[in-house]
Amino acid sequence: MREAYDRYSNVSILIHWTVALLVVANLLIALAMSDHRELFPWHKSIGITVLLLTLLRIVWRLTHPWPHFPERMPGWERVLSRSVHIAFYVLLLAIPLLGWATVSAGRGTGEIYGFIQWFDLPVAKSPELRDQLGGLHEAAAILAVALVVLHVCGALKHQFFDEDVVFHRMLPGLRQSHMDDEI
Ligand code: HEM
Ligand code: HEM
Repeated sequence: MREAYDRYSNVSILIHWTVALLVVANLLIALAMSDHRELFPWHKSIGITVLLLTLLRIVWRLTHPWPHFPERMPGWERVLSRSVHIAFYVLLLAIPLLGWATVSAGRGTGEIYGFIQWFDLPVAKSPELRDQLGGLHEAAAILAVALVVLHVCGALKHQFFDEDVVFHRMLPGLRQSHMDDEI
């Protein structure tokens, strides 16, 4: 059985903040893309990177210890927090996969990062399917934005109202003595 741990591991922290940055960048790129088609190769490349980092992250999460919730955290908040985290893992896989399926049903994925020839997902080439997948891709991204707002509100609540360790344990370099006071 895996042990509980007092903070996220450096690998978890690094992947969390890298993926958060890449997702926000890709949302901004997506907004700008209709006027700037030249940004689309970046959108694909960043999105596939998020997919690969999320696969790595899920494997890491399942094979390494992670922190327990603080003892005084109420049950409803634990359920909400865990549900949002699981929904994130699902969406961080589903959003890039749907985007990838969209281009696979259309013109093909082509290159990522300008030099890596990427393969297509096995979906039929069809303009209708392409549009449907594109719609699902966008809807999933909008759901992710709503969850990010909820997630950030949760993090700020822990930091400024509950004043517990939840925010700090996702930051690099927390001293053990600080954790001992709180857990
Ligand atoms: C972090 C991952 C991703 C996020 C957050 C994201 C987000 C979005 C959003 C919000 C849009 C809608 C843009 C608009 O209509 O104004 C969009 C469109 C699109 N994205 Fe992504 N995307 C991601 C990954 C990918 C990947 C990996 C691909 C392909 C390999 C891709 C392909 C597309 C395509 C083809 C469209 C246009 C869809 C259409 O015309 O209906 N996306 N993306
Ligand atoms: C696109 C943006 C983001 C995504 C997809 C995301 C995703 C996640 C996920 C999946 C976890 C759960 C880790 C686990 O498996 O236990 C997590 C934890 C966490 N995130 Fe984010 N995050 C994002 C942005 C942010 C931002 C902007 C903040 C802070 C303002 C933040 C603060 C935290 C904190 C404090 C935790 C630890 C929660 C705990 O210990 O229970 N995240 N995040």
